[in-house]
Amino acid sequence: MVRVLVGELASAVGGTVTVKGWVNTLRLQSKVQFVVVRDHTGAVQVTHRRGGAEDALGEVLRGLTVESAVEVTGRVVANPVVKLGGLEIVPERVVVVSAAEPGLPIGPETGAEQRLNWRFLDLRRPERRLVFEVQSTVEQAMREVAAEQGCTELHTPKLMGTASESGAEVFEVGYFDRTAYLAQSPQFYKQMAIAAGLDRVFEVGPVFRAEPSFTSRHATEFTGVDVELAWTDSAEEVMAFEELMLRRVLERVAGRHGEQIGRHWNTPVVVPELPFPRLTMAEAMTRLRAAGWDAEGVREDLDPEGERLLSALVAEESGHEFVFVTRYPASVRPFYHRRPDGEPGLTDSFDLLWKGIEITTGAQREHRYDRLVAQAAEKGMDTSPEGPLGRYLDCFRYGMPPHGGFGLGLGRVLMQALGLPSIRDAVFLFRGPNRLEP
Ligand code: 4AD
Ligand code: MG
Repeated sequence: MVRVLVGELASAVGGTVTVKGWVNTLRLQSKVQFVVVRDHTGAVQVTHRRGGAEDALGEVLRGLTVESAVEVTGRVVANPVVKLGGLEIVPERVVVVSAAEPGLPIGPETGAEQRLNWRFLDLRRPERRLVFEVQSTVEQAMREVAAEQGCTELHTPKLMGTASESGAEVFEVGYFDRTAYLAQSPQFYKQMAIAAGLDRVFEVGPVFRAEPSFTSRHATEFTGVDVELAWTDSAEEVMAFEELMLRRVLERVAGRHGEQIGRHWNTPVVVPELPFPRLTMAEAMTRLRAAGWDAEGVREDLDPEGERLLSALVAEESGHEFVFVTRYPASVRPFYHRRPDGEPGLTDSFDLLWKGIEITTGAQREHRYDRLVAQAAEKGMDTSPEGPLGRYLDCFRYGMPPHGGFGLGLGRVLMQALGLPSIRDAVFLFRGPNRLEP
């Protein structure tokens, strides 16, 4: 039997069809049996009027359990009384393809951890699956903009012989008779691609962080979106690229999923205006302190509370959900961020906050070999040719163009786009310090 999707039934009224899906709910009365069957496009009521002793179909329905996989063949009948689309299926045949054991391990009241244990069942709820439809749209729009902007898509290795960036937060894995490390960012490789003459690169790939963080926005494995652009003069060009990309993303998300996101999660999808507001870190600190943040006046970086408060202040002033914070102190930034001429204490870098959380860090990179080595040494890193940075630093010895780029966390973007309480709900299978299963 050819499958008809539930979402297409309205155009099949009067015909006989087969729908394939899961038993959503059962209401089995002595005279009439109602079975709601759900597929990924919607739910439909199957209505069977019981017909006495020879009613084999009625017996099949009586044996059904919720979440069993079934195929239902029957006539599609218009019935304005039925809430689900004003139609129902009068069944001729119901096949239980795979029965669900009675008594589901999760229900509407189940807590977050147990739901994650049974993620495949949790995801049968349409509002939880919506995140992946949105994710497809987000990635498509990002790829589209990246291609329009002249980026080449790249896939950098995730197994590395030395720890990238800092060495902290890096997972070790057994690698034959030595140790390998899981990439905590494609940072060094995308810069190598700039040195290789690829000009502009874009990567969507896994990122691993051995951070024992238990917040709602940290995972130990997440999907990163990375961009690196050659021949940029400043981080401003990188920010201009990113805001263009995010506007396209939100245009698409609003158009395709805005109604559903509003209905299921009560989150408005706002298409942001360009340019996004920009604040230097010094300005941001002044505003935050005026609002009572960091009363001791000791912080050099934003903490989660500072990020929330800053977004709230900007939203109040300009109505904008995004804000770029620029010119971070060099003390809280990696060695490879470029420092503005004559201001060695600052970096030409930025974070992008969206509705109170950081979704991106980016920067103009230091492309001048001597300065890069000096900045690494200043951070106490081993800059010898045999050291862990040797191969990276080589990229700067034979003609490295000025460049800049950013890294964005896809899970955080989805979490904010739908208004989900945690990144755990924004990824297919969450990985955290205490979770490697399922
Ligand atoms: O801010 P991060 O650590 O920056 C970098 O990795 C740089 N190499 C990027 C660059 O081009 N300069 O990570 C980038 C983004 C963050 O802004 C955040 O959205 C996300 O990755 N992220 C995480 N998402 C989930 N769980 C975690 N533990 C994350 N850590 C970072
Ligand atoms: Mg960051």
